[in-house]
Amino acid sequence: MDKTERLEWLNNNRTETEEIILRRRSVRLYKKEQVPEFMIKRILETGRYAPSAGNYQPWKFVVVRDGKIIDQLTDTVIDKCKSLKKIIDYRRPGFGWLRPIANLLIRLKSNELHPAPFGAISMIADGTLGLYHGAPTVIFIFKDVRGVSNPDLDCGIAGQNMVLAAHSLGLGTCWVGFAKLAFEGKNNWNDFFKIKYPYKFISSIGIGWCKGDPDGMIPRQTHAIDWYEDNESKTIF
Ligand SMILES: Cc1cc2nc3c(=O)[nH]c(=O)nc-3n(C[C@H](O)[C@H](O)[C@H](O)COP(=O)(O)O)c2cc1C
Repeated sequence: MDKTERLEWLNNNRTETEEIILRRRSVRLYKKEQVPEFMIKRILETGRYAPSAGNYQPWKFVVVRDGKIIDQLTDTVIDKCKSLKKIIDYRRPGFGWLRPIANLLIRLKSNELHPAPFGAISMIADGTLGLYHGAPTVIFIFKDVRGVSNPDLDCGIAGQNMVLAAHSLGLGTCWVGFAKLAFEGKNNWNDFFKIKYPYKFISSIGIGWCKGDPDGMIPRQTHAIDWYEDNESKTIF
């Protein structure tokens, strides 16, 4: 295929990489069967090769393939969600006095206690939303806080490399940010995983064999994109 033919083909077809990116879905139902070790090692390798500011690679990955540990950590998160729900949910009869405390907390942690995550926190507390959804392998991502520029972003890029690599291997994944609760405050899991300065929990990814076929493109919001070229500008959608 010469360059013109290749461009013509690309204009009408998606590459395998694009298909992997566009059809990936977060998976919340897994088979019990463990994922072969070699696959997880291959996934980790794609995290290791992620770009990072100054090539600082400010991350540490911890792999957990022990159902008991995943369940116990989940229990910690459920307990913390229950406590958070008790404080924030001042609308329960007789708990109006909690309102100023709840509002202060919501202001201090505006990202984490946004209505969307707070809804999920309530559901985890009530047992209507799982944490790892039965994924037999979890990769925890910790950032090196000394990282150049923005280590959170670097960790996110490494994590997404791993998510897409897992998908390309035929596996399902789900980012699980709520695990953060297990790494803060009392009874946290930092000691268990020997996490100390300069490392700090960023997020985690559950990985396993999907039950059913969750893949597919779903509608996404269309964001306006401003485009500047040849002394002109336009907005595309
Ligand atoms: C950083 C991050 C944290 C997330 N945390 C959770 C989580 O704790 N629990 C969960 O079920 N999904 C979690 N998700 C998955 C999102 O809900 C999901 O990506 C989003 O709804 C879009 O759906 P899709 O991944 O199927 O395209 C997280 C996603 C990201 C990127």
